[in-house]
Amino acid sequence: MLRKVGSWVEICWGATLLFLICHLGYVCGQIRYPVPEESQEGTFVGNVAQDFLLDTESLSARRLQVAGEVNQRHFRVDLDSGALLIKNPIDREALCGLSASCIVPLEFVTEGPLEMYRAEVEIVDVNDHAPRFPRQQLDLEIGEAAPPGQRFPLEKAQDADVGSNSISSYRLSSNEHFALDVKKRSDGSLVPELLLEKPLDREKQSDYRLVLTAVDGGNPPRSGTAELRVSVLDVNDNAPAFQQSSYRISVLESAPAGMLLIQLNASDPDLGPSGNVTFSFSGHTPDRVRNLFSLHPTTGKLTLQGPLDFESENYYEFDIRARDGGSPAMEQHCSLRVDLLDVNDNAPHITVTSELGTLPESAEPGTVVALISVQDPDSGSNGDVSLRIPDHLPFALKSAFRNQFSLVTAGPLDREAKSSYDIMVTASDAGNPPLSTQRTIFLNISDVNDNPPSFFQRSHEVFVPENNRPGDLLCSLAASDPDSGLNALISYSLLEPRNRDVSASSFISLNPQTGAVHATRSFDYEQTQTLQFEVQARDRGNPPLSSTVTVRLFVLDLNDNAPAVLRPRARPGSLCPQALPPSVGAGHLVTKVTAVDLDSGYNAWVSYQLLEAPDPSLFAVSRYAGEQAPPNTDWRFSQAQRPGTSGSQNGDETGTWPNNQFDTEMLQAMILASASEAADGSSTLGGGAGTMGLSARYGPQFTLQHVPDYRQNVYIPGSNATLTNAAGKRDGKAPAGGNGSKKKSGKKEKK
Ligand SMILES: *[C@@H]1O[C@H](CO)[C@@H](O)[C@H](O)[C@H]1NC(C)=O
Repeated sequence: MLRKVGSWVEICWGATLLFLICHLGYVCGQIRYPVPEESQEGTFVGNVAQDFLLDTESLSARRLQVAGEVNQRHFRVDLDSGALLIKNPIDREALCGLSASCIVPLEFVTEGPLEMYRAEVEIVDVNDHAPRFPRQQLDLEIGEAAPPGQRFPLEKAQDADVGSNSISSYRLSSNEHFALDVKKRSDGSLVPELLLEKPLDREKQSDYRLVLTAVDGGNPPRSGTAELRVSVLDVNDNAPAFQQSSYRISVLESAPAGMLLIQLNASDPDLGPSGNVTFSFSGHTPDRVRNLFSLHPTTGKLTLQGPLDFESENYYEFDIRARDGGSPAMEQHCSLRVDLLDVNDNAPHITVTSELGTLPESAEPGTVVALISVQDPDSGSNGDVSLRIPDHLPFALKSAFRNQFSLVTAGPLDREAKSSYDIMVTASDAGNPPLSTQRTIFLNISDVNDNPPSFFQRSHEVFVPENNRPGDLLCSLAASDPDSGLNALISYSLLEPRNRDVSASSFISLNPQTGAVHATRSFDYEQTQTLQFEVQARDRGNPPLSSTVTVRLFVLDLNDNAPAVLRPRARPGSLCPQALPPSVGAGHLVTKVTAVDLDSGYNAWVSYQLLEAPDPSLFAVSRYAGEQAPPNTDWRFSQAQRPGTSGSQNGDETGTWPNNQFDTEMLQAMILASASEAADGSSTLGGGAGTMGLSARYGPQFTLQHVPDYRQNVYIPGSNATLTNAAGKRDGKAPAGGNGSKKKSGKKEKK
């Protein structure tokens, strides 16, 4: 308690003393000792003993000391020298803050007598603080569109020092866009401002890291820094950019729908919506392109949507737009060309530009049958078309121009062999695999009259028994003609050679349509044994063609003639007296009876017998006159060919023929006379008359040569021979080794 009281008393004293000293004018004003802040312990501040005029010898005795607890912490008095020394370092800023001056009043007290002295210590600022920014990092956002000259205030740095030790300047790290402008406030403090000097481009540089330095005025100066981060804010100042201004791609025309063709890429360095690119077809893109291709708006993938057809369009060219989402939006276009690659997807097409349809079979080789053109809309080898027809046809293809062909005949045509053709034309292209088309050209071969009618037989033999009825069908002479139409329409006619003395139409009639031959009269074998005529078959072509057939008509013998007795001569019904010598012996030849029968063969085979004999024992007649051979039944065949009855095949026909010349000739004359009588009804006998009769009946040219030779029918009684002898046969053909000239010469002689 006393101490407290004492202190309080001390303060009172002190105040009084200070007042006194001042008042006494010992020190007018204050004794002030400057000392740098932060001075170390023991630092000399001033010599108070000297300044207070105190005897240094007595200092210890008088116990000079600093008054006050606070000051005693920092100062002490060295009692030997009377010096004021720093006891603990003093932080000016802790003591005085940011006050421009920092004065510490000090009081000193001595005892014996108690005295009080007063002095000041000026804590002199030492530049012990560097400027400091409140934050080490300063963030600043500036739109890239900000105009040069724009200012952006920056936060101040702080410096605990004062005066010249406080901040005196700011610096900015060097860069080409920004500068620093520092303004001085009225209180003297500095305010830094960032000044934009050159336009910004976020897309080039989106942020800047600058160093802002604050420097104080101390010596040496101290500084503090802060990082200044300038972020450049985006403005939609960039259009999307395609990597290429034009693209060219190719795709097979057969590419399936959905196929990815290309992925377009456009970059936009802007940020956010301004950098969001969407793709679309440019406004003027035609609908067919929009239908064929699909463009994804965000990925830029162009895919095939519809079927492509090289043949209708072999490329597409259109523009694609890339647009960003900024406001206003910016856009750019690129052009895209899609080339289609041909695929062999078209078969050749065959067009028959003209065709004959019908061609006469007489057409020359090389005749144009049809004109053909082929088309293949594919390109390259896919559209190279070749044409062919089957090998075996008589036609060929010729090509004058590319894809133009003519179908021509390459050989002779024959309608009768083949009357129409289906010509398969095959067009193939050269694609891989090739495609082909077939088309059939029909061609009719029209008829030309190139075939004459033809009879089934070159010659015709007809057998008709004599005594036929007029109108009987003798034969049908069918001919055929392989041509067609009128060229095959046949009519038949009789050919009547001029030199023929007997007209065929006098004994037959011919149906001109059917070729049927009818008899117009009854034939008499004994007059007519064979007839010959020619029939012509003629078509109606232009010119007409014809052919002839020779018809030989053979009249077959019927037994329609009774034998007639030639010798001994007697009128029918009259007697024929024969004189006999008075005494004849048996076996005496009374007479030789000769009878002839105008029929032939067996019909003419005459036998003899006595009808009215007074005494059958007195006379006898031989039945057949010798060993006469039965006649041949078929006289049309040569001797060797005769199917024969007995006596004809054995060749033993060397019967008894009248031995002397007279008998022979007389017999022949009689036969001819008989024949003549039978022919013209007269009973005239005599050489040559018969010939006349024949001519009258059959025509002037119809001589003995044309009359059937019936001499063979006359059997010489007592012999087995006929008048023709064994060698001369009826058909006039000489048998092998025979001397048929004998009969002929005989006839000639008679004539
Ligand atoms: C060929 O002839 C037949 C029969 O007359 C006829 O139907 C066809 O149309 C003809 N063809 C041609 C190509 O003239």
